[in-house]
Amino acid sequence: MKILVVGGGGREHALAWKIAKSPKVQMVYIAPGNGGTAQNSSHLNGITNIAISGIKELAEFAVQEQILLTVVGSEVPLAAGIVNHFRSLGLKIFGPTQEAAQLESSKDFAKQFMKRHNIPTAKFETFTDANLAHQYIDKEGAPIVIKADGLAAGKGVVVAMSLIEAHTAVDEMLSGNSLGSAGSRVVIEEFVTGEEASFIVMVDGKNILPLATSQDHKRLLDHDQGPNTGGMGAYSPAPIVTPGIHAKVLREIIRPTIQGMEKEGITFTGFLYAGLMIHPSGDVKTLEFNCRMGDPETQPIMARLKTDFVEILIHGVEGRLNDIEPEWDTRVALGVVMAAHNYPQTPQTGDLITGIPAEDEHHVVFHAGTTLKDNQLLTSGGRVLCVVGLDGNLKGAQSRAYAAVDQIKFSGAQYRKDIGHLALKRK
Ligand code: AMP
Ligand code: GLY
Repeated sequence: MKILVVGGGGREHALAWKIAKSPKVQMVYIAPGNGGTAQNSSHLNGITNIAISGIKELAEFAVQEQILLTVVGSEVPLAAGIVNHFRSLGLKIFGPTQEAAQLESSKDFAKQFMKRHNIPTAKFETFTDANLAHQYIDKEGAPIVIKADGLAAGKGVVVAMSLIEAHTAVDEMLSGNSLGSAGSRVVIEEFVTGEEASFIVMVDGKNILPLATSQDHKRLLDHDQGPNTGGMGAYSPAPIVTPGIHAKVLREIIRPTIQGMEKEGITFTGFLYAGLMIHPSGDVKTLEFNCRMGDPETQPIMARLKTDFVEILIHGVEGRLNDIEPEWDTRVALGVVMAAHNYPQTPQTGDLITGIPAEDEHHVVFHAGTTLKDNQLLTSGGRVLCVVGLDGNLKGAQSRAYAAVDQIKFSGAQYRKDIGHLALKRK
């Protein structure tokens, strides 16, 4: 069978890599893919990059090539209705419809929805009028969090520690138009504290299948300093998500979300990612929803998945997720993101990458911002690689990942030296 993966980042490389290992699969097409998936083309169960974007064009390709199943990596095509379009042509696709994807594409939608269904989240108000927003900030005080309503590729959240920062963020988003239409409405919310974790499940419309737990590192620099990024590293499992917290998240957040959507006439299918803030008291709040897997969380999660992922995806599109129990590698997988010089502002591109070690049972390197040109691997984006190490414990996985990172060279490479620090501290 042939499978299509839509996207070209590290998450999509990890999805395609895992799918290509299935004995059922003859070819994985990835649109557009990256330098890493281009290199994989020689494998027996190959991966082939295809230079197609547009939803219509992708659907035409799926029809022509008799693609059995399409999996979508990123939020942009989901919010644009790729699932609706594929389904209207009778094509199988795993993901949320445009209506369901509003849980990610509109922060206001997600917050109002959580309020209606008593799903724990930070207190908030939504504004389009800058004056009212400024008044609200003065009333509530700092720290306070300002979020652009629309999709902003990880740049839409300002955690303001002072009133000045909060007012500036509102001015830039609402009046200064810094994020275009994504910022023409802002959610202003209470600052909550605790430790963050990513909780990702697959949903087939009625059944919920939780994936292995994970934790991301959103800040650019060591000790969680510097600007927010798309994620600088992740590991799985996340020890903060104890069995008790896991059960609570399913009970208080995930199930009420799927049931609440259904009550409002929206059947949820696809990946649902709840960004959690877990307070030491055991109180858990939802910071955000994403309607896709996380990047880089997917990389360590896929590295640990032992079950054939295609089997799971087929159960997903056929409404049978209650019938499958994924098996996970008991080892810890830890992924370190190597980013380009000047990421996240304006990343430098076009640098030669050398020294990527071959995959073995303890390592796998997933590509993101890379391209293959005249047989040379060059950087082409902000997050360049995610280097995953696997070992029996977190420290071992960390050592293996960093040993591989040390072998990889490109000009201006930057990465955090402390991926996994929160989990190490717990032990
Ligand atoms: P989001 O895109 O909503 O996940 O926000 C990006 C990051 O901002 C999160 O990973 C948190 O670190 C931080 N953040 C978001 N909302 C809050 C909040 N209400 N209180 C404290 N930090 C937050
Ligand atoms: N790593 C965070 C995200 O994918 O949204």
